[in-house]
Amino acid sequence: MSRSPHFSLTGCRAVITGASAGLGAEFARQLAPRANAVLLVARRRDALESLRSELLSVSPALRIELCVADLVTPDGIPNILGRLDETGLCPNLLINNAGRGDYGSVATADPDRLRAQIDLNITGLVLLTRALLPALCSHPASAILNVSSLAGTLPLPDAAVYAATKSFVTSFSEALRIEVAEKNVGVTAVCPGPTPTNFRNVARREGGADTDRSGDGFLALPPDEVVRQALRGLEAGRAVVYPGWGPTLAAWLFRYAPRRLLRWYLARRHARSGVNPAR
Ligand SMILES: NC(=O)c1ccc[n+]([C@@H]2O[C@H](COP(=O)([O-])OP(=O)(O)OC[C@H]3O[C@@H](n4cnc5c(N)ncnc54)[C@H](OP(=O)(O)O)[C@@H]3O)[C@@H](O)[C@H]2O)c1
Repeated sequence: MSRSPHFSLTGCRAVITGASAGLGAEFARQLAPRANAVLLVARRRDALESLRSELLSVSPALRIELCVADLVTPDGIPNILGRLDETGLCPNLLINNAGRGDYGSVATADPDRLRAQIDLNITGLVLLTRALLPALCSHPASAILNVSSLAGTLPLPDAAVYAATKSFVTSFSEALRIEVAEKNVGVTAVCPGPTPTNFRNVARREGGADTDRSGDGFLALPPDEVVRQALRGLEAGRAVVYPGWGPTLAAWLFRYAPRRLLRWYLARRHARSGVNPAR
């Protein structure tokens, strides 16, 4: 298994996207005791400010900068670069965490929601990575942590676009890892299973159903444990991390099961779920 150059979270200067809630806020909490500085990025200023107060109450020496930016708009990334310029915070860690889903069939999807999902999960992640690579490469050791998903290992009906975007994120991360290894930039993709955050409320369509949760008992992990395992994997230089034994086993099965068998199983599950009868 390939390992990245050694990167330590101690004293790091991190940019965290989607830091106002869920896994992003948890990344900030767990980095706070060890990091030197963090730039917290999201659209909701009030949520970022309240996280800053919480972090300062336990880590008063931590330097915390906020950046209100919408990563699906053309000025999202320039805003982040502007904040980095203003503050002189030259990051050696990028956590591409912001992401969203959309539960339901493609045929009934709102095209604007589809576009926003692709723009955030793919375009925003790639372009922010591209924009920050020169800064990351200027350090003796840096790292990128891309938040992908176990869903990226499967062609997932009723989350078809979401699963495909996360498949992209994992593939992109593994290729980038090879490209930037000689610059001492480590790249890790973390692929959580279902995690109780606000994600599912955002993914659920107005008046629409939740996704099929039949495997959750086996796959779900709390956000703090997902983040702990992701950061441990990042420091260990791992290419891909599946937090928890359930997702680890599932990813292994999905990789080695015959594709035809997998499609048959997914079709049966889809027919049984009745999540979107109007599809
Ligand atoms: N929860 C799960 O079951 C699960 C499983 C596997 C992978 N993941 C992945 O984990 C990551 C974090 O998700 P989560 O579970 O923590 O969800 P969450 O609680 O909904 O948090 C999403 C974060 O992304 C930010 N965000 C959303 N749209 C944005 C935009 N256009 N520009 C900038 N920031 C934006 C949100 O902040 P604002 O609203 O303030 O902008 C929020 O901080 C995502 O990439 C998701 O795909 C989640």
